[in-house]
Amino acid sequence: MTEAAIDLDFDGEAFRERALASLLTARDRTTLLTTCVAEPELTAQHSPLMSPLVWDLAHIGNQEELWLLRAVAGQDALRPEIDGLYDAFEHPRAARPSLPLLSPEEARRYAAEVRGRALDVLESAAFHGTTRLTEAGFAFGMIAQHEQQHDETMLITHQLRKGPPALIAPDPGPAPLLTGPAEVLIPGGPFTMGTSGEPWALDNEQPAHQREVAAFHLDTTPVTNGAYLRFIEDGGYGDPRWWTPQGWAHIQRHGIDAPLFWRRDAGQWLRRRFGVVEPVPPDEPVVHVCWYEADAYARWAGRRLPTEAEWEKAARHDPATGGSMRYPWGDADPGPEHANLGQRHLRPAPAGSYPAGESPYGVRQLIGDVWEWTASDFLPYPGFTAFPYKEYSEVFFGPDHKVLRGGSFAVDPVACRGTFRNWDYPVRRQIFAGFRTARSGAL
Ligand code: AVJ
Ligand code: FE
Repeated sequence: MTEAAIDLDFDGEAFRERALASLLTARDRTTLLTTCVAEPELTAQHSPLMSPLVWDLAHIGNQEELWLLRAVAGQDALRPEIDGLYDAFEHPRAARPSLPLLSPEEARRYAAEVRGRALDVLESAAFHGTTRLTEAGFAFGMIAQHEQQHDETMLITHQLRKGPPALIAPDPGPAPLLTGPAEVLIPGGPFTMGTSGEPWALDNEQPAHQREVAAFHLDTTPVTNGAYLRFIEDGGYGDPRWWTPQGWAHIQRHGIDAPLFWRRDAGQWLRRRFGVVEPVPPDEPVVHVCWYEADAYARWAGRRLPTEAEWEKAARHDPATGGSMRYPWGDADPGPEHANLGQRHLRPAPAGSYPAGESPYGVRQLIGDVWEWTASDFLPYPGFTAFPYKEYSEVFFGPDHKVLRGGSFAVDPVACRGTFRNWDYPVRRQIFAGFRTARSGAL
């Protein structure tokens, strides 16, 4: 993706409008997430796993300054002394509260100053192609997605925060009655995985390449709390047969016996969700389980996690054309009828929701609701080139991180598509992650 390809079909004006709308939407969300709690809560550390909210806010501004003002427009640094503070690689999250961070007031002013200048750059940017940073929309799309990724991170901080609720949102409606099968067959054969040269795709989604996938069966919906409860009640957390040695050691050491935020009270399972304690809803996809728990559940069920390639074939392959689509439902932008995205609801929708979003194979809720753990390590595609910096993807490749697909209710549509790849450590539980299961074979 480093060639300076000039794509004559690229509509620069349409891209400019979309980039502008995406930047504005992201900032509205950032503003909400950083004004709905009292000022001292912005600098507090709600969990050693997370940054203070004020760090995310200034980091969002700093990345926008680095890429849109300095790299694209060639401007001088606004505040060169703060770059180190907001470099995610210089300071681990747990150390961030003790840094001399900008105050909430200063962070807001800095992010707003950067944004004002970035919009000027966007207004006059010439988009001659879609690939190279300095001549392309890519940088604007990357920065809008970066802010939305941190808006999801900040929502995770909100979930970890103790105290009364700060955020509210309407619940998704009840699921339509699921009359179809619990699993569907995805026939064997090649499909196109990944994408090449589209302006929103990040480096790790590229390039497009052929993958052979053997026939397999995939769950129609993500695994629900009700199904996961049967694993718990069957003693799943106490039986080493279902766990990898690392997973077993991990749950023993940390005393893990249920999803994060769950507790049992007088025989009833309750969960805490954004400051509200409520009964665990049985028909909702399970969330806040780590990869080890997902993997153990699948083994207990006599199944396995899908590989990343299997997941993407189920989500993008169109057997009618032989091509790959942007989303399970086609190439249309996600609407509220397709998927639960964008923090519109602060929970996954019941399993079986969004029939309009199902894939040609009849798989539902691949996009939105919960990130889905896959069996795969986070690895580069053949022909991968780091762009525009190695610290976005390349430094994370290898067996330490597992791939998650599909996006959660907390992800904005701009940072979510059938090719999008997320990754995390297999112990991670605070992220909005669940899973679905698969089995090999056509029968
Ligand atoms: C792709 C979600 C793993 O949050 O660590 C944000 C995204 N990269 N800033 C992360 C990201 C740099 C990244 N994930
Ligand atoms: Fe970041």
